[in-house]
Amino acid sequence: MNILGIESSCDECSAAIVQDGRRILSNVVASQIDIHRPYNGVVPELASRTHTEWISATVKESLDEAGLALDDVDGIAVTNRPGLLGALLVGISFAKGLAFSRELPLVGVDHIRAHLYAPQLEHDIAYPFIGLLVSGGHTIISRVNAFDDIEVMGTTIDDACGEAFDKVAAYYKLGYPGGVVIDKMSKEGDAEAFRFPDASLHKGQHVYDVSYSGLKTAVINQISQFRMEGKADTTENIVASFQKAAIDMLLKRVEKAVDDTGIRRIVAGGGVAANSYLRSSVNGRKDWEVYFPSLGLCTDNAAMVAGIGYHYLKNGMRDDYRLTALSRVQGFKKNYP
Ligand code: KG4
Ligand code: ZN
Repeated sequence: MNILGIESSCDECSAAIVQDGRRILSNVVASQIDIHRPYNGVVPELASRTHTEWISATVKESLDEAGLALDDVDGIAVTNRPGLLGALLVGISFAKGLAFSRELPLVGVDHIRAHLYAPQLEHDIAYPFIGLLVSGGHTIISRVNAFDDIEVMGTTIDDACGEAFDKVAAYYKLGYPGGVVIDKMSKEGDAEAFRFPDASLHKGQHVYDVSYSGLKTAVINQISQFRMEGKADTTENIVASFQKAAIDMLLKRVEKAVDDTGIRRIVAGGGVAANSYLRSSVNGRKDWEVYFPSLGLCTDNAAMVAGIGYHYLKNGMRDDYRLTALSRVQGFKKNYP
């Protein structure tokens, strides 16, 4: 089965053809990063307009690269949640039009589930596993029982992990997107120069939850309070220490999730899963079975959407033309009080 995937939830306009949920025939990602860079973040209206301009050519390119015609496509999967409403609607409307005109089955896909599916495009991964989804919009530690059965264990109570990277980078004028720059710059810095606290474990908050707002404030406004003796105030040292604190916070929660559930299989996804310190720390755990997507499949892409969409369509799941965009995650079980 050849599934056409369409992704337009944020600033990546992407279309892909994936065969049987596994074989990527094409994965075209047209990034709007240059358009949003002057604003240090995604401008929703600009994102929607640019998707509108690019979507048709992006889908065509995905077919050309796969060497297929529309007649060879067996179904369409499109991200319909969560994300920027206007941006999502562009992909959804295009998918609906195509599905209608070619009489193809259509299914709406959850972006978070798709991110956690990404490593399965490259590996056979058994269930259950501990899912670590870290992106610009979400930070979710979960127990994943099946491709569409996710029990949320912990989330961020304020900023998303990638958002914290972006905001710290914007404050220090390092460029956009912040995660990529900080990852690179941290290699030149001393991650022990500043010791930022894990401010997440407030009273009443769940043990798997994280908080990035306090860390961000510490890095931006209270830097001198956390400097270790004899260490220099260089931007390299600051961002390396920030990166260590931001990622160690996640590692601590994942460790606890492994201990509590006995599940030693870890699957990561989302833009921050490209982070080299996160990758080396988790891969360094020889007692865990670890899966990261390759770098190109960490950030937003339509291959992950076509990949998971295949399983829905194969199981007979369909959406009709009432399919619409939702800004927030929906339908996740929260079984860990
Ligand atoms: O998954 P994604 O492309 O979009 C969302 O669904 O949000 O993730 C984008 C986020 C941005 O915040 C970006 O700064 C972050 O992923 N990111 C990174 C790295 N590469 C991208 N964060 C840390 N280290 C990286 N190497
Ligand atoms: Zn994403």
